[in-house]
Amino acid sequence: MNKHDSERVCGMLEAQGSLCVGTYEEADIVVFMTCCVREAADVRLLGQAASMKNLPLRAGTPLSKRIVAIGGCIGQRDGEKLIADLPHIDIVFGTHNLSSLPRLLAAALDEGGHHTEVLDHAEGFSTDLPLARASGWAAWLPITVGCDNRCSYCIVPTVRGRERSRPIEEVVREAQGYKDAGVREVTLLGQNVNSYGRDLYGSPRFAEVLERVDATGITRLRFATSHPKDLTGEVIGSFARLGSLMPALHLPIQSGSDRILAAMNRNYTQAHYLGLIERLRDACPGIALSTDIIVGFPGEGASDFDETCKVVEEVGFSQAFTFIYSRREGTPAAALPDDTPAEVVQERFDRLVGIVQEQAWRQNQKELGAVVEVLAEGSSKRDPRLLSGKSPKNQTVHAPLPSGMSGEDIAGSLVKVRVDEAKTWYLAGDVVGPV
Ligand code: 5AD
Ligand code: SF4
Repeated sequence: MNKHDSERVCGMLEAQGSLCVGTYEEADIVVFMTCCVREAADVRLLGQAASMKNLPLRAGTPLSKRIVAIGGCIGQRDGEKLIADLPHIDIVFGTHNLSSLPRLLAAALDEGGHHTEVLDHAEGFSTDLPLARASGWAAWLPITVGCDNRCSYCIVPTVRGRERSRPIEEVVREAQGYKDAGVREVTLLGQNVNSYGRDLYGSPRFAEVLERVDATGITRLRFATSHPKDLTGEVIGSFARLGSLMPALHLPIQSGSDRILAAMNRNYTQAHYLGLIERLRDACPGIALSTDIIVGFPGEGASDFDETCKVVEEVGFSQAFTFIYSRREGTPAAALPDDTPAEVVQERFDRLVGIVQEQAWRQNQKELGAVVEVLAEGSSKRDPRLLSGKSPKNQTVHAPLPSGMSGEDIAGSLVKVRVDEAKTWYLAGDVVGPV
């Protein structure tokens, strides 16, 4: 969602005549789009924003001072306080008023001084704003913003507000526009896409959105994120029915322990989660599953953690994002006693990472010898002679670039790759033809 918001910010500033540049040094205007889901993101922002203070201005700039803006979740949460802590910041805006940025920027340029605007409620969808997409072949398409869940550890509902769905016709129109413009892959976005439509007239269901977007003729369709309590049989069935829906699902489990899941206010059990996995594999054999896991939630004991490890072993995730619990002020969990020593949490975390890596490696081994369809994204960062792209299961795939082609030439094309190497984080092989 932050990447998408950033594309909106670029779109608005470009519409006003600004130019996107590659580094802070070259930039006259720096906009930080921020996340506050874990403390590490807070710390990183403070460091990076502070470092702007002594960064020399670009030679030839007409400005006497670099304009620095902080937007997104930290802007929403901290507002004016950011300027008290970082007086060289010029602008603060929140998650509900991306569209204010051009006005705040004009004021900062004309008048100097500080300009803060944070709203308590949304003033419409940021999706109505200009957009500068980072890639020509893939597009993020937000279908909901905000979150009505109250996971006890999570700050998102506070900074992103109540869940709001975009009308289905608008979503389909945008998807059709992407398809017609040559975009290959659309990723539908929302904090919990499965509860889409509950706030709309006629309560359209998420499965209907999937069906309608599939019908646009888009090549690849993905979505994120799903809450296990809201994943319906109809959506599970979509994996069998819809040609464009890629065989990969991100389904955050957070913990394998029923006791901890209850304390997290997740409203499902381990058995429910495993039941969903079984139904998903029935509907779509070979589906790649990924997840999020929090280690060290307050009160997590050794046996709770063992349950998490057990589930991870049982499911066989292709990828798992693992996080050490981060106490977020203002969330219900922040009030819970938390007495697990940090070393114990770290040891659990390291053990889990080991299991997750082993699982990812094992899932990738299954592709050896297979021919997979790869959506090329360009050349590999590590070796410019290789193309890098994504398989339907969202695995990173590398292969030598066809002769005479650069990464730029091939970006956005679909190619077939025969896999002859499978590592933990990627597959590699040779291009055997176009799709
Ligand atoms: N501490 C650690 N991880 C968190 N997440 C959300 N809030 C916290 C927190 N307070 C993780 C969850 C979520 C992902 C986006 O971030 O796993 O799914
Ligand atoms: Fe946070 Fe839970 Fe909403 Fe996800 S579903 S954004 S974890 S409150």
